[in-house]
Amino acid sequence: MVLGGEPHRTAYRRSARRVPTRKVTVTDSENARIREFAERLIGADSSAWTATFAQVPRHHFAPSFYAMTGGGWKEVKDGDPGYLDGVYSDAALTTQTDDKGIPNSSSSEPSLMLAMLEALNVRPGDAVFELGTGTGYNAALLCARLGDARVVSVDVDEELVRVARDRLAELGYSPTLAAGDGAAGYPEKAPYDRLIATARLRSVPRAFLEQSADGAVMVVPIGFGVARLSVTGKAEADGHFMPVPAHFMPRRAEGAAPRFAELETQEARPTSVNVAEVLDRLSFPLSLVMPDYTSCTWVDDDGTPSAFGLWTGDGSTATATVTGKVRQTGPRHLWDELEQLAVTFEDIGSVSREDFGIIVTPDGQRVWYGAEDGPSWALTAE
Ligand SMILES: C[S@@+](CC[C@H](N)C(=O)[O-])C[C@H]1O[C@@H](n2cnc3c(N)ncnc32)[C@H](O)[C@@H]1O
Repeated sequence: MVLGGEPHRTAYRRSARRVPTRKVTVTDSENARIREFAERLIGADSSAWTATFAQVPRHHFAPSFYAMTGGGWKEVKDGDPGYLDGVYSDAALTTQTDDKGIPNSSSSEPSLMLAMLEALNVRPGDAVFELGTGTGYNAALLCARLGDARVVSVDVDEELVRVARDRLAELGYSPTLAAGDGAAGYPEKAPYDRLIATARLRSVPRAFLEQSADGAVMVVPIGFGVARLSVTGKAEADGHFMPVPAHFMPRRAEGAAPRFAELETQEARPTSVNVAEVLDRLSFPLSLVMPDYTSCTWVDDDGTPSAFGLWTGDGSTATATVTGKVRQTGPRHLWDELEQLAVTFEDIGSVSREDFGIIVTPDGQRVWYGAEDGPSWALTAE
């Protein structure tokens, strides 16, 4: 399985601004469905976001989505059986795939969006920056809550931005949208009181810190978790990982292909680590140590795994067979790092995201486990 790896562009491209007009009519039955969805999502603890989720029609931003079937992706369109049930469920909706059929844009699980928006703790008047416009649904929720003049959202995909701009305008919202690498922020509208990313990052982008107002809050997916950070000084921030699991699409950036061919002639060394167990139990800390890692599994004819592969964006590649034979190449020795992780966590049964923290200083970024002076790992700069 291969994820991400597309080139990214750093220059901003603004698509033509259109005067927003409210063109969409939401029927009474759709309205009832949206309200019921919002209430179900929020549960007993209704919050200011209940009204916001009840106000913004998700189906407007996902007029179709792709569902995985035995034969690959199947497009489910507005009007098809199951369409509205899918849109008003707590599921991520794949809304775009690349030419290899790999999803590269989606509307995230609503409960995860809610958890991240709650963590963002917006106050009236806050200026918000979002990396990852996607369908525009999250941007619409922010516009509904804060007013569109306070919202800036950037997506690397120019066409997605164009479509999101139109859909937002149809609901009467005209936030600032731009196409480009969101890791560069959007300096023209800085500083921001709140910054949120809805694509997986390797670390907090330097531009996020530079474009933060004093006391800003950031909610950023790093690895398979979401970190909530408070800005504590110039280029300084710290915070914790939220308990919620998150498997966002990786930020689109240049990534090297795995170097499996090079390993074929290499002598294997033994490992005593149970690779499958580590990849499963320690997938979260592994995603922090190697935030851009991709793994794959080779299976026998009967579907039994025979070997695992792991690679990172710098081309470091490693394989391990289920019988414990390891090969690795590239600038990083990925299995050595994985074995180290297995030692650190050998006496810890289940690893909870909220036991991890993050600290950002002008000299670098680290995640720590348990306590600031506990085991820690440097994050790769974006
Ligand atoms: C999970 S989707 C975002 C969901 C979106 N917030 C919504 O409400 O629909 C992730 C998005 O991040 C975008 N993305 C990936 N790399 C990016 C980058 N370097 N800069 C900005 N956006 C990026 C993708 O194009 C994709 O649309």
